[in-house]
Amino acid sequence: MPLSRRGSGTLLTPTGQHLAMHTRTQDDESLPHATKRTMTDHLRRLETLFTLTPQRMRMITQSFRETLENGLEKVDQVVPMIPTFVFGWPSGQEQGDYLAIDLGGTNLRVCLVHLQGKGKFEVTQSKYRLSEEQKQDEGQKLFDFCAESLKTFIDSNSGEDGILHLEPGEKLPLGFTFSYPCKQNSIDHGILIRWTKGFGAPNTEGENVAEMFQKSLDKFELPVTLTALINDTTGTLIASHYVNPHTRIACIFGTGCNAAYMEHVKDIPKIKDLGIDGGMDMVINCEWGAFDSFEHEHLPRSKYDISIDESSNKPGEQAFEKLISGRYLGEILRLVICELIDDGILFLGQNTYKVEVTNALDTALLSLMESDPTEELLMIIGIFSHFFALETTLAERQFLRAIARLIGRRAARLSACGIGAIVGKMGYLENGCAVGCDGSLYNKYPGFAGRIQEGLVDIFGEKARNIYTHHCRRWIWPMTKARKDAGIHAHL
Ligand code: BGC
Repeated sequence: MPLSRRGSGTLLTPTGQHLAMHTRTQDDESLPHATKRTMTDHLRRLETLFTLTPQRMRMITQSFRETLENGLEKVDQVVPMIPTFVFGWPSGQEQGDYLAIDLGGTNLRVCLVHLQGKGKFEVTQSKYRLSEEQKQDEGQKLFDFCAESLKTFIDSNSGEDGILHLEPGEKLPLGFTFSYPCKQNSIDHGILIRWTKGFGAPNTEGENVAEMFQKSLDKFELPVTLTALINDTTGTLIASHYVNPHTRIACIFGTGCNAAYMEHVKDIPKIKDLGIDGGMDMVINCEWGAFDSFEHEHLPRSKYDISIDESSNKPGEQAFEKLISGRYLGEILRLVICELIDDGILFLGQNTYKVEVTNALDTALLSLMESDPTEELLMIIGIFSHFFALETTLAERQFLRAIARLIGRRAARLSACGIGAIVGKMGYLENGCAVGCDGSLYNKYPGFAGRIQEGLVDIFGEKARNIYTHHCRRWIWPMTKARKDAGIHAHL
């Protein structure tokens, strides 16, 4: 339905739900509600809480940079700066068929990648949603689910009409994107340091997840060879560089957040004993979501952030990620709303139990609220009536949207501090560079990329315009197999 500024209709949300919307010519005279004035006062208070001044951003960027340097210097730091054993950039000429399986925070994806060279590629993929139960179930079962999904994908794409034509006994190279912090001593090995993003599958932390996955692959007798295990940021870095050779950094802004970049081996003091040629370059998976964890010295945490942290399955951990990523932004807004309900500011006289349920407000709804193009904010009417059975006045809707904007803007500006720390450390400001990005926040949250850019300008001034983010899908990374074939193995 085309958006009309008056009347009723439905809207389709990114998650495929239909929202009923209706406008009213009179603004809820029948419902008691707070005055605009009271809301304005609260908005001012929240603005102070969620706004980052350029000066504060520069301070965060500086401490971020020191933290990254520490992680390169010493082992077992909070921000671990993980050597990935992925060496150097792709040439852009890589060709061939590769399978990729990607276990992210929300979905499992299986992809067949056809690299055509010259930075060109085709991808065929299937996506499976992970349930909350699966995230807490035995680790081996999770890997069995990955292998089983891969089997379904291979079976349904094989045969005469399929895109996969395997000779008897032939095996396809398989890359596993595992988007959690893993300590690696080669490209096909990874000890899970800790689960993030609400996962808690027992008997997995401290284990070699490549080995666990191999066990599941064997169980389903799949015609594949597991050639590499990498983080999603590493995958995005390699894939982004394949399509845009100016890429130097990659970020994920999705259910979780993190970055990877290419470092000079000589500048990674903690691996100097491995005897790797100092002239080489290696991808570092920063795991920057852990910045300021436990000590909470640098980041501006509000009482809402603290409450989310304390009620999470990993209190104290992933402090940076909890202010930024898609898993948490909706919940921050929901906690603000609940407080204002308790204070008698919002939804007076209405039954608010639906919005009082933990995690009831998905970050996708914040995106929708911010992108509502109508004067009367019809989308927001639809969201609150459909999901929470709540009527809203126009003043409330404007207020809610303003809070969503504060939360979304803070997330993007903090992300700019992380990017700024790498840019500063590597000296990329003068000549500029591209930052390949992926993840639902970056791809779907309105204005996220623009706010990162604005944040970088606040940190570095006009020169920051030399640094630009671009969207890139990470599925094509399994070409890193070529690196393994080059015989580069090392042990930490
Ligand atoms: C994980 C990272 C991952 C990021 C984005 C974080 O929670 O620790 O490994 O790259 O999410 O998916």
